[in-house]
Amino acid sequence: MPQIPDLINDPRYRNEVGWFLHRDKYGPRDTFDSYGAERIAWSHLLLDEVLRYAGRDIKWLSDKTVVSIGCGCTGELAAFPAPVKIGIDPLLYVYQKLGLLLADEAGGRTVYLSQNAESLPLLDDVADLIVCRNALDHMPKPALALEEFRRILKDDGVFFASVDIGGEPTPDEPTVFSVESLRVLLDEHFDVLTFSDGHEPHDGFRVCSTRVVARKRSGLSQKRLDREMILRAYENSSEGWSICQRLMKETGCSYEEAMTRIHRAESGTRGVG
Ligand SMILES: C[S@@+](CC[C@H](N)C(=O)[O-])C[C@H]1O[C@@H](n2cnc3c(N)ncnc32)[C@H](O)[C@@H]1O
Repeated sequence: MPQIPDLINDPRYRNEVGWFLHRDKYGPRDTFDSYGAERIAWSHLLLDEVLRYAGRDIKWLSDKTVVSIGCGCTGELAAFPAPVKIGIDPLLYVYQKLGLLLADEAGGRTVYLSQNAESLPLLDDVADLIVCRNALDHMPKPALALEEFRRILKDDGVFFASVDIGGEPTPDEPTVFSVESLRVLLDEHFDVLTFSDGHEPHDGFRVCSTRVVARKRSGLSQKRLDREMILRAYENSSEGWSICQRLMKETGCSYEEAMTRIHRAESGTRGVG
């Protein structure tokens, strides 16, 4: 079950969620009929920006997996015509419970995971495109998050980020980047293809914002598992293969029957042999 943090007393979460509720209630209705319409317009702007920075056209997305990290409830992938879309944010369950999630307009549906970026429940090499807009400085441990971004990004995948620079730490924006500190962190995991600063900040009290396009750095160590070692351990274990073999030999039963009896014995319902 996803967690719901203390939204009344913890300023970190109250500020994040309060901002969206405020925008929903008091947003610019002279420009947009609803917060939903405003967010769809923002998703189109983000789509244009990502494709422009990545040097791709919209057809590129037609068979891609896109992961948006720190996606908030802005439905930022709503307009992306990609078949697989995943949104990750620790407050997604809260946004759902508050009726703040936005329906998709294009492509497959977005699957939402209510989860921190520092430990992603995704396999290696799944994402063709990772989008992280105005979220890296909201994370307490951005170095861990970037390590995870690299892990889930395909070798030829694209990482797009938009990150604010400067200002003071706040409860909901605990990490303050300088242009240099952001570059150092990115270089640990990525080959940075584009890095531009001087953009208008997402948050008024930050100094400016950056746009980043990067590819995962190759040659960094990947977690490996030793199949042979695990198989040997299993075959040598008293509970596993050796009991199965003995049962098959002694009773003439099949492999499936022997394994069923072992599993029954393990769960305490019946003895083996
Ligand atoms: C300002 S919102 C940005 C939302 C959206 N990306 C946008 O640009 O409109 C920042 C989001 O980062 C999320 N966030 C905070 N800590 C995070 C973490 N450790 N991992 C992933 N997302 C996090 C917050 O919950 C919040 O929804």
